[in-house]
Amino acid sequence: MKILFIGDIVGSVGRAMVLEHLPKIKEEKQIDFTIVNAENAAHGKGLTKKIYHQLINAGCDMLTLGNHAYSKDTIFNFIDEADRLVRPYNLEPTEGAGYRIVEVNGFKICIVNLICEVFMIPVIDSPFSSMIDIIEDTRDEVDIYFVDLHGEATSEKIAFSYYFENEVQVVVGTHTHVQTADERVSNGTAFISDVGMCGVYRSVIGRDIEEILTRFTTGEKTKFTMAEGEGILSAVVVEIDEESKLAKSIERIQIRPND
Ligand SMILES: [Fe+2]
Ligand SMILES: [Fe+2]
Repeated sequence: MKILFIGDIVGSVGRAMVLEHLPKIKEEKQIDFTIVNAENAAHGKGLTKKIYHQLINAGCDMLTLGNHAYSKDTIFNFIDEADRLVRPYNLEPTEGAGYRIVEVNGFKICIVNLICEVFMIPVIDSPFSSMIDIIEDTRDEVDIYFVDLHGEATSEKIAFSYYFENEVQVVVGTHTHVQTADERVSNGTAFISDVGMCGVYRSVIGRDIEEILTRFTTGEKTKFTMAEGEGILSAVVVEIDEESKLAKSIERIQIRPND
């Protein structure tokens, strides 16, 4: 079984990259299920109902979020009915679902979204104890755990992946918007510290370069205006061995303009 995971979609350029390239990636890689981090999909922060439906209609099977989950208040108008959306399990408020179990090719996959603690916003509980609770509650009805671990610190994400080896089949990091090159499968768990983003390539993690430079060099509180320009798409494909139900491989994907 092959699962495609696409990193943080940042604004309209990120959405356009997904709409343009998803059908081809799905066909070429023979993808069975597609999960997308959409925490920055609506103009760089949050998710709207319209964009939720746009991404689902484009072939995304499940959306995850992050620290920007509630940046658009209107999410509370549809989060309870959005059955293809997973919000961070350990973040308040707790409307909607912190994990969802879906059946794919006869296997029950539990998609989990968790926020890390280091350099992040306050959470209800650590991602470690949250994941232990989820496994305890769902073990009997789940074949494969897929975790979108949303955090700043690579150390915390790497530690998490070792802690849940053999129990959680996939741990993919999100939030930094920069793809790391440390993908591996270790004791049945596929892992990467960060999948990277879908957004404007020549930018500072999706935002306008000049404004960010002004902020860093003068300390002035500039706006985080969205960058404009050609897009990058960042993703991974994870293969699960259907006999052992363990991860078999993880492959990075980046589609970007010439540097
Ligand atoms: Fe984030
Ligand atoms: Fe993000």
